[in-house]
Amino acid sequence: MTESSPPLAGVVGWPIGHSLSPKLHGHWLRRYGIPGHYVPLAVAPNDFDEAIRTLPKLGFRGVNITIPYKQRVLQVADNISDRAALIGSANTLIFRENGGIYADNTDGYGFIENLRQYAPDWSAKSGPCLVLGAGGAARAIISALLSDGAPEVRIANRTRQRAVALKEAYGARITVVDWNRGADAMEGAMTIVNTTSLGMTGQPELNISFTRAHGAALATDIVYAPLRTPFLQEAASIGLRTVDGLGMLLHQAAPGFRQWFDQAPEVDDELRRAVLAE
Ligand code: ATR
Repeated sequence: MTESSPPLAGVVGWPIGHSLSPKLHGHWLRRYGIPGHYVPLAVAPNDFDEAIRTLPKLGFRGVNITIPYKQRVLQVADNISDRAALIGSANTLIFRENGGIYADNTDGYGFIENLRQYAPDWSAKSGPCLVLGAGGAARAIISALLSDGAPEVRIANRTRQRAVALKEAYGARITVVDWNRGADAMEGAMTIVNTTSLGMTGQPELNISFTRAHGAALATDIVYAPLRTPFLQEAASIGLRTVDGLGMLLHQAAPGFRQWFDQAPEVDDELRRAVLAE
């Protein structure tokens, strides 16, 4: 790489066509007049390790990592942030000038920042949290809720064993509840989160009653297509505060952009509109 070559970043996955990240980072690059590029990179499983090691030599300052490589990438990284190590996956790589590959996971950060933006008085500390789901997104969110001081995190997952595994990984403040008792577990919960794929366009709906929820509880979803999921509509219909999932996607992208392009990007309505535009 020479001094004058434009900064490069991108997103590595397989397949990659669905990713909104190029649109998101492309908007920021234009907005700040940065002469860089952010590109989708479809990398086949056999080529993954070599591709990641080659990208820094091609002028890439880092990349986002998406399905199916978020766990595997930890084996290629030279340094791993504490939160990525705890979660067991990474979504953001920073290529250091000394050639080292640093792996971080900003999903939990994105989740918390989204709630802070749209519910400024919300705090993980305000009471028990109920998390529906126990997949990769749940791992990042639960880790962030715990490190932000949640007194208890209740996990309800269709496959109970995955919730039990999270309790084993994260410890005493986790309570495992039956998937079909999720509505009961809302009792006293102040933060209620859907981390499953239910409610996403083309997926079955997540039908759960909020009648036992605290009136001041906040409901949020990681699904952002559609923005108003049946889960959030149900919560809103009984007067709960709701925050949609798009902001998590936007906020998780900001730390990478800041590192690669030396510019702290704004996460605001202009960005939301750009990402939602066809
Ligand atoms: P991600 O990394 O996006 O979290 P994942 O690891 O595949 O993806 O997790 C998807 C989550 O949605 C899991 O909690 C999954 O439940 P299981 O662990 O039982 O598979 C949940 N999920 C997906 N489809 C579901 C369905 N039809 N009913 C209930 N939960 C479902």
